[in-house]
Amino acid sequence: MRLKDKVAIITGAGLGMGREASVLFAEEGAKIIGLDVNAAALEETAALVKAAGSEMLAVAGDVSKEADVKNAIAQGVARFGKLDILYANAGVLWKDRDFSVLDTTEENWDIVQAINLKGPFFLTKHGIPELKKSGGGSIILIGSISALAGFDLAQDSYTCAKGALISLTKSLAVQFGPDKIRANIIHPGMIDTPLQAPYLNDEKKKNIASGIPIRRLGVARDIAYAALYLASDESTFCTGSELVVDGGFYAM
Ligand SMILES: NC(=O)c1ccc[n+]([C@@H]2O[C@H](COP(=O)([O-])OP(=O)(O)OC[C@H]3O[C@@H](n4cnc5c(N)ncnc54)[C@H](O)[C@@H]3O)[C@@H](O)[C@H]2O)c1
Repeated sequence: MRLKDKVAIITGAGLGMGREASVLFAEEGAKIIGLDVNAAALEETAALVKAAGSEMLAVAGDVSKEADVKNAIAQGVARFGKLDILYANAGVLWKDRDFSVLDTTEENWDIVQAINLKGPFFLTKHGIPELKKSGGGSIILIGSISALAGFDLAQDSYTCAKGALISLTKSLAVQFGPDKIRANIIHPGMIDTPLQAPYLNDEKKKNIASGIPIRRLGVARDIAYAALYLASDESTFCTGSELVVDGGFYAM
């Protein structure tokens, strides 16, 4: 029970890594506030959280809308009485719309920034005052190895949003360390989730795996375990850090 008596808000809790983290955090004793645009998926996650022995408040909403994020936090605090963990997980990777700067439209650039960067801004803006009331807490941001290196298949708005989250992590760590609020960022490598599904088939997965030192794609639980460490009190001296979870890809 590494998260006993903790309350976590997890954005993008409907599918993929957000769902997996919701279930793992629940198994470890946390109450969950789940925020996702996909209300049906969120309800399924809520049922899994219940089966894991905890409860989730499922709030349908869009992280790029400040009112939705503010509302989820307010509802969550009203329900569970406090907030300890902000997990800014929701993000989109649109390989059919987000390209090199040469080819991306301003509109597509802005939507990706709004979800991937403004979402974490709203979550921290409205969540940090609640963490202060709790006497401290943990902020977990999700970056990407695509923020750490260039790739020939460019998704420049995605890459820039994830890169900016590294700077935000460090700024939050320095500003709020004295309040016992920590901020860390996880950089996943290629993780087999619904986000990647439209772009993968078995053959592509095999090819990608052969180029990863650990010789497999990641699964959502690989990231959930990293997030669990950062959410728990085991990491109380860890802030402003970047945790790469990519099977060794970035080490090459
Ligand atoms: N899967 C990967 O290979 C990979 C690699 C690096 C980083 N990431 C990042 O990890 C995070 C989670 O990715 P995933 O693979 O689990 O994605 P996913 O698509 O499988 O799940 C994302 C969830 O976020 C929700 N969501 C999307 N837009 C939203 C919005 N505007 N407001 C609220 N919820 C929204 C979706 O409905 C979905 O439930 C993302 O930030 C992603 O960029 C993923």
